[in-house]
Amino acid sequence: MQLADLYYENGSLVSKFKGPNLKKVNDILYKLFIGSEIKKGFSFQTKYKNSSDLRPNVIDYDECFIKVLFESKVHNLIFDCLGADYLLSHIQIRKLEAGNTYLDWHRDSYNYGKKVGDFPPAHKIIYHPLFKGISNNSKLVVSRSSQLKMYNSKISDFFHNFITINRNKRDFYFPSNSKFLLFNGSAFHKVCSDHKPSICLIYNFLRKNQLQKGSPRYTTLSEKTYLAYEKILLN
Ligand SMILES: [Fe+2]
Repeated sequence: MQLADLYYENGSLVSKFKGPNLKKVNDILYKLFIGSEIKKGFSFQTKYKNSSDLRPNVIDYDECFIKVLFESKVHNLIFDCLGADYLLSHIQIRKLEAGNTYLDWHRDSYNYGKKVGDFPPAHKIIYHPLFKGISNNSKLVVSRSSQLKMYNSKISDFFHNFITINRNKRDFYFPSNSKFLLFNGSAFHKVCSDHKPSICLIYNFLRKNQLQKGSPRYTTLSEKTYLAYEKILLN
């Protein structure tokens, strides 16, 4: 119960990938990072300033990106921490250029009079490998427990979470060749500015009923992703 307790309260935790597919994941990410090799039919396209994502998707790029989750028992971690029917809904590979952050402090899900994002919130895994040429500065920071301290206007939400009591309660995630960060997407978080480029792997998890046809998040890609994950989960 300790892990679930910590994750519930803090809104993030660091854990480790392991197993034979971790090496494959790192090899592929390294080749994509230095630009030495990319499979035919795939490319990086810019979404936010200073960042680009692998298109058309990650799930068809290599099955190591799903296998590493099970070899690392991430499905058990998700079950322990969330205790519900959360499934993998999306995988992204994102390249970040040196320079200013592309996303300052924000919640992925909030309601300042109108709901934005996923409800219940998505939970995400972010993994930044530490290759030659990548700085060891923190890559993401989460405002601790902010997922439990939501206010109904942008001004009061920022005021209570940053200007007063919670100003110094922050959890930083540093790059590593095995450590990842699991975090609640409704907690305040930001991508750290960096003076060197980097690459990251992002996994999204949502409740099964949020992924069904007719739900706002439903796409043929999210369906394909959760079915691939569920297939291994149920075997
Ligand atoms: Fe975000």
